[in-house]
Amino acid sequence: MRPHVVTRRASADDDSAVKEAARIIRRGGIVAFPTETVYGLGADAGNPEAAARIFEAKERPRFDPLIVHVPGKADALALASVFPRTAHRIADAFWPGPLTIVLPKRADRVPDIVTAGLPTVALRSPSHPATRKLLAAAGCPIAAPSANRFGAVSPTTAEAVIEQLDGRIDMVLDGGPCPIGVESTIVLCSGEKSALLRPGGLPLEEIEAVAGPLEAPPASLIPQAPGSLPRHYAPRTPLFLVNGADEVPLEDRAGAAALLFAKRGISGFSTVKALSEHGDMREAAANLFSALAQLDVAGTSAIYAERAPETGLGRAINDRLKRASAR
Ligand code: TXA
Ligand code: MG
Repeated sequence: MRPHVVTRRASADDDSAVKEAARIIRRGGIVAFPTETVYGLGADAGNPEAAARIFEAKERPRFDPLIVHVPGKADALALASVFPRTAHRIADAFWPGPLTIVLPKRADRVPDIVTAGLPTVALRSPSHPATRKLLAAAGCPIAAPSANRFGAVSPTTAEAVIEQLDGRIDMVLDGGPCPIGVESTIVLCSGEKSALLRPGGLPLEEIEAVAGPLEAPPASLIPQAPGSLPRHYAPRTPLFLVNGADEVPLEDRAGAAALLFAKRGISGFSTVKALSEHGDMREAAANLFSALAQLDVAGTSAIYAERAPETGLGRAINDRLKRASAR
């Protein structure tokens, strides 16, 4: 049995602890930290393997897009490819604060695992002084969902984080209870339209007073709530989930792509890609969305994707592949 590891917990008022948390994040670790809404579980938003560790710690059986936390609008502008007028208005009015704005993303700046393959990125500038100190010390955007295990409620105290994630994360910054206690309000701003994706800590009325009436969200851009499974990313190339690429008959391999779980020699396929070098789950998870995107433009007739071991992050990988293969 794995020995019980106790996650380091330190006061968010202690500047040296905040600096240590920032160092851990810069080195690819994961740290729980307070925000004005709920505690987040953060990683360097530019590091796909660190993002994979978040899903692993949360035991999420699938990948959900993460919110990318930034100090302010200037930093958000660097991660979005389009920043419509409404986004400027609401960012100016409510940032820093409990508002997340979903915008078309700069694909070269935000890894696919962070956005779960979506072409958009969720951005938030938090107001909690500890979160702001952490962002400044880290010097990089921090990707973070709420710091709970899958299916559990969002934690609003460091104790609640420890109860769920002790030993699974590198550090917890304790900033006491979160003043707002519910997650941020999420607004999608795509071009002309703005839509409410999730009610939250910032009242809808306040947003509409600045942005005008919001629309109902377009079905294609609502990430899956557990249990409902509209696909938000699907390769155009037909994808087949297989236990091993070796089971694909030789005559079906010509013109097709194989997506292996671990690198090895295999013959007959036009294109072969491996999610990981030696079958490392975290590496595989970190590479999944970009591998699918690359294979989708490789011009093959089909993608045969190998199932990952059905454990840990493998469940999330398989869930994603299953949905990508759904017709
Ligand atoms: O207040 C909050 O929002 C907290 C703190 C830590 O910032 N974060 C939070 O994250 O509650 P959470 O656990 O709700 O996970 C992120 C959620 C996703 O489940 C999804 O609903 C939404 O953010 N999201 C992220 N990226 C998105 C995108 N590109 N399009 C639509 N929704 C997105
Ligand atoms: Mg959550």
